[in-house]
Amino acid sequence: MTPVITTRGLAKDYDGGVHALRDVDVEIADGEFVAVTGPSGCGKSTLLNLLGGLDRPTRGEIELAGRRVDGYSEAHWALVRRSEIGFVFQFFNLIANLSVADNVELPGLLAGLSSREAKARRIELLESLGIAEHVVAQLAWQGIELGPDRALRAEPAPASDVPWWQRTAVSRAGAR
Ligand SMILES: Nc1ncnc2c1ncn2[C@@H]1O[C@H](COP(=O)(O)OP(=O)(O)O)[C@@H](O)[C@H]1O
Ligand SMILES: [Mg+2]
Repeated sequence: MTPVITTRGLAKDYDGGVHALRDVDVEIADGEFVAVTGPSGCGKSTLLNLLGGLDRPTRGEIELAGRRVDGYSEAHWALVRRSEIGFVFQFFNLIANLSVADNVELPGLLAGLSSREAKARRIELLESLGIAEHVVAQLAWQGIELGPDRALRAEPAPASDVPWWQRTAVSRAGAR
């Protein structure tokens, strides 16, 4: 079976003569679980950035499921990442002024789901992670009684029934 990831002679030089990666040949099979380990500065992040198209190699080839992708443009990589690559960043890279629910929903909207589909999907995702209840519990603790659906929409309740500081708390609770 075609590997999901193949690299051949992958190399990355940074300005200043740093050879972060030299001639990396990797093959990762579908369903395989791989950990890249090594001391700080050995090139782990550089490798992952190249495999996800977040940075470009100096030399070498990358194939994803048999497709050559190392020459892809930024826009082309964005499409690949949107549908085929998931990143869990060391720093969460959440959008700070969006609630957690809106952060979860955003990729669905960018991928072209309708607003209704994206909302359904985020509820599904948050529930599958057990976060839906957490968000509702946080709100209940603050004296705001909402069903999961309304809570996860995370739209500020009308100003008449929720003071501004509670609304702020709601989005902060959501952003964790
Ligand atoms: N943007 C950059 N510019 C110059 N050198 C970099 C850059 N990013 C990483 N490096 C250097 O490349 C090497 C590998 O770094 P990195 O991939 O971050 O390693 P790791 O993730 O294993 O700690 C290190 O020597 C680091 O200092
Ligand atoms: Mg790193």
